[in-house]
Parts: sequence; structure tokens; C-alpha cells
Amino acid sequence: MTRTSLPLKDTPRAYGRVTRILHWSIAALILWQFTTMILKNGLGWSPRDSAVVGSHGMVGTAVFGLIVLRVLWALINRGNRPDHGAGLIGIAAKAGHGLLYLVMLIVPLAALSRAFGSERPFGPFGFELFPAREEPIAWMVAFGDAVHGELGWVLGLLILGHIAMVAVHEGMWRDGTLAKMAGRRALAKG
Ligand code: HEM
Repeated sequence: MTRTSLPLKDTPRAYGRVTRILHWSIAALILWQFTTMILKNGLGWSPRDSAVVGSHGMVGTAVFGLIVLRVLWALINRGNRPDHGAGLIGIAAKAGHGLLYLVMLIVPLAALSRAFGSERPFGPFGFELFPAREEPIAWMVAFGDAVHGELGWVLGLLILGHIAMVAVHEGMWRDGTLAKMAGRRALAKG
């Protein structure tokens, strides 16, 4: 039996290898981000004493880089990826994905803006990404304070909605949506 191999780039039938790697690694790292904040806020673990909670800034910075790559890769593949279907449901799916991308970008960007504008140095990978400054940049810190945490939880709700819609596609409409991002079934002819 021959196995259909996954292409690197996306096709109208299914997402390719690069999109899938980016999608699932971002999903896992964002889950990690929520876990760290649930441990901090729910169980009172402090970033100073716990390496898990302390990894939030480092993992968040890495995930921001992956999200930027994901958006660029989506633009490169534009017009050659699975579409979201016709009618109102298609429009809603497109809008939902657009909102998800936007919020995924803003949440870490707000935290990075706060870190950049803060007086303290920021060195998530063991070197100073943003050096200390004498005077904070007030608007950057205020933007991060106002947006990062709250929009972070909104992102959590959007992701739950995204998962719920995949469940509806799989359980009710049975249209093979999940196979476009996980598995080779969508590549098979027919
Ligand atoms: C997609 C990536 C990220 C997600 C999903 C995320 C999510 C969250 C969430 C849900 C909270 C809890 C807010 C609360 O206490 O109510 C939080 C807090 C925090 N995050 Fe992130 N974060 C991300 C990236 C980052 C990055 C890149 C940094 C560092 C530059 C960072 C630094 C912080 C800090 C210092 C806090 C505690 C203070 C605060 O509530 O704002 N996060 N994050």
C-alpha cells in the first residue's frame, strides 16, 4: 500500500508539513503558557521559586516568534490552502480565524512591549534581549499592563471556541476538517 506523502506547502485539500508543525507546536506552547498562569494564580506558585512558572516569559517570547512565522507562512500560501467553505458559516469561520491570529499576536506583543519599556532588563534566553533603561517608557508599560493578562484569558476562550467548532465539524457535519490539519485522509482523492 502506498502512503500519500504530505507536501511541504499547503494545498487546497490539506495543510502541508510546515503549517502543521507550526500549528501544533504553537498549540502546545500556548497550552504551556496557560498552565503556568493557572499554577501561579490558582496555586500561588511564584516565578521566582518555580522554573515552570518562571519559564512563562521565555516560552511566550519563543511562541511570539512562531506566531509571526505562522502568519507569514499563511500569507505565502494564500490562495493555495483549504478554504473555509461557502455562505455564512464560511464567512464566520474566516472571521473567527482572523480574530484568533490577531489576538495571538497582540497578547505576547503587549507583554514584550511592557518588557521593552520597563526599567528592568529582559533576558529570557540568558542574554539581554532588552537592556535596563533609566526611565520607563510609560505608554509601553501601560499598554502591556492593560492588555496582556485580560486579553490572554480572552485568547483562552477563543481557543476553546476553536476546539468546539472542530468538534462540531467532526461530530455533526463529518466533513473531514480535522484531517486537513492532522492525518493524510484529506489528501486522498475522492
Ligand atoms: C502567547 C503567549 C502568551 C500567553 C497566551 C500569555 C498568557 C498570559 C496569561 C493568561 C496571564 C495571566 C493574567 C492574569 O494574571 O490574570 C499572563 C500573565 C503574565 N505574562 Fe503572559 N502570556 C504570553 C506571553 C508572554 C510573554 C512573551 C511575556 C514576557 C515578555 C509574558 C509575561 C507575563 C507576565 C509578567 C505576567 C504576569 C503579569 C500580568 O498579569 O500581566 N507573557 N500571561
